[in-house]
Amino acid sequence: MPATVIDGKKIAEGIRTELKGKVDSYRSKGIIPGLVAVLVGENPASRIYVNMKAKACQKLGIHSEVIKFPEDPSQSELIDKVEELNHRGDIHGILVQFPLPKGLDEFEVNLKIDPAKDVDGFHPENIGRMLIGKPTFLPATPLGIIELLNRSGNPPEGKHVVILGRGNIVGRPLAVMLAQKQKGANATVTLCHTGTQDLSSFTKIADILICAMGVPEMIGGDMIKPGAVLVDVGTNRVPDPGSEKGYRLTGDVDFDSIYPVAGAVTPVPGGVGPMTIAMLLSNTVKAVEIQVG
Ligand code: GUN
Repeated sequence: MPATVIDGKKIAEGIRTELKGKVDSYRSKGIIPGLVAVLVGENPASRIYVNMKAKACQKLGIHSEVIKFPEDPSQSELIDKVEELNHRGDIHGILVQFPLPKGLDEFEVNLKIDPAKDVDGFHPENIGRMLIGKPTFLPATPLGIIELLNRSGNPPEGKHVVILGRGNIVGRPLAVMLAQKQKGANATVTLCHTGTQDLSSFTKIADILICAMGVPEMIGGDMIKPGAVLVDVGTNRVPDPGSEKGYRLTGDVDFDSIYPVAGAVTPVPGGVGPMTIAMLLSNTVKAVEIQVG
């Protein structure tokens, strides 16, 4: 039997509906949740992501601002802006879209965001809280993946989850979150990376395989266990002269090749992406709860 395609768009829609009630309730009390996204430079993918985040906020009734910097602001200009936003009472959440252009230090920027407004969960205080199992904000993409697994009937509890990619935004926090002793997680986790030898020997024993390497269509049907659940985090642009834009989006999974073998798979687009946005909205509502009560 071919794989079930997990509809991230639909599941994310359900989460947004749940959040709408909370946003409406705040608005009825005169509290308008507010999120600012800071966009630096001309990275076309970042521009699209930030616009999608802003649109999703507006649809839900969250006030949204996008602050744009040219390619080369100084580190201190960027940090001054973050500090100004930390002090604004009408802004509950701040995110600085990554990657930043060369020469800017992402760690230093994360360090300056007020942890109570850190809706990305990237501040070291929030990462530390995540690590010891006392989270405030959890990073949106790993949180979205865990929600997606649980809400699609593929709970990770007791399963062997193999994660490919150890980046700060997805792989590494996801490994920590999935290994927590709590409902909806409690998985056995293997974290593979560019230093892993014989990658296939790990991918073939995964009950759930999370692909977050950023290598287009690298995972084929011959690399997975029949019936495995595949979560594709890749959003790679590959040249496509036949298309209007000149490129197409593809995941880290070779969809056609795994489809007859896997038990379930998330599509690209329409899988993890909408969940990331839904969890950012959820974190923004949480930020209001923390700051306003
Ligand atoms: N770049 C890729 N994913 C993310 C994310 O979740 N948050 C931010 N701020 N930047 C990103």
